[in-house]
Amino acid sequence: MPSGKDCLANALAHLGRGPAGSGRSVNLPIYQSSTLLFDTLAEFQAARAARYKQRTLYYGRYGNPVSFELEDMMAKLDGGHGCITVSAGLTAVTLAIMAAAQAGSHVLVADNVYEPTRGFCDNVLVRYGVEVSYFDSMMGEGVSELMRANTAAVVFEAPGSGTFEVPDIPAITQAARAHGAISIIDGTWATPVFCQPLRLGVDVVAHSGSKYICGHADAMIGFIVCNEATYDRMRRMTLAFGDKAGSQDVFLALRGLRTLEMRMKHAHSAGLAVAQWLEAQPQVLRVLHPAFAGCPGHENWRRDFSGAAGLFSVLFKPCEEARLHAFVDALTMFGVGVSWGGFESLVLPVRPNRTARPWTEEGCLVRFSIGNEDVGSLIDDIAAALTHLNT
Ligand SMILES: Cc1ncc(COP(=O)(O)O)c(C=O)c1O
Repeated sequence: MPSGKDCLANALAHLGRGPAGSGRSVNLPIYQSSTLLFDTLAEFQAARAARYKQRTLYYGRYGNPVSFELEDMMAKLDGGHGCITVSAGLTAVTLAIMAAAQAGSHVLVADNVYEPTRGFCDNVLVRYGVEVSYFDSMMGEGVSELMRANTAAVVFEAPGSGTFEVPDIPAITQAARAHGAISIIDGTWATPVFCQPLRLGVDVVAHSGSKYICGHADAMIGFIVCNEATYDRMRRMTLAFGDKAGSQDVFLALRGLRTLEMRMKHAHSAGLAVAQWLEAQPQVLRVLHPAFAGCPGHENWRRDFSGAAGLFSVLFKPCEEARLHAFVDALTMFGVGVSWGGFESLVLPVRPNRTARPWTEEGCLVRFSIGNEDVGSLIDDIAAALTHLNT
């Protein structure tokens, strides 16, 4: 985002508020719509002919004035040509892959992507005649050697799910482009506040808005933000599937964006404080956090990101399963559950499923999502629970 008048803070406050007029609410309404009416048949026919184009009002599934505002805002924040809102983050990733691939093509996927993304590739894509192979996300431009004549897409995540390696985004993107493949990145962790992969050359960024963007663990929404070359095929694919974000979730995403930068700054500092404290504990082998010098790709994070989310993992010394359960159950400030990026702290043991670079580390890996609670209280809570991991 540019600085000065067009800086991120101003954009988050002023974009996505609809046309100016007197007496209107600061916020756009929850816009419930299915049928849209036209004054004449000719107007209806013109809308139908243009329904795949950005911002054409035709029928609720194709979008409405409020979802178009949200899409424009996300596209602007991410430096994209356009954005398509979909019903969930996973939908954003899977439909982006569907739009890039076709029967007979090959998709290269980083082996540390969100597990359900792998599940989609292994269980769905291959059934439709698409070859899938996995690569080590840290191989950078070496990914060129894995490209096949039919490689249609390179799919990766920054940082990787559960293990937080930070790939060389420009190197992977350039390799994909040189081979005529579309690069698709899952940018959920950083949000547009901390990284804008389109500005680094990526073709398509998929976001789960259910995490930080909505930010209150109460909404499901996804975004596909694209460059000009990919926008049309991405939008057509989501429309072909009939996917659509719910109107209330669109409203919550617009509301969440207003405070996103402030919340990300808190996530950065609170997450780092807890992670740094954890690193010094005797039960801990390693902290997996992009801002830590020992994190694979730390230098890529320093170059391409302006901050860190409050989601990271900790590798504890090997321990029996029962001790791990006792540790997690003893935490009173951390909920046990999937997702992250809300106001509440969460904890979850993770088991990395890696095929290109097998996960060989001994120990118990636990993912923490740091919420908005008092950092000292979170640390005290972990300190008390850690006694269960003492050997
Ligand atoms: C990195 C990442 N991408 C995508 C998703 C899926 O998002 P959603 O839950 O909105 O479908 C998740 C959910 O945990 C995630 O962690």
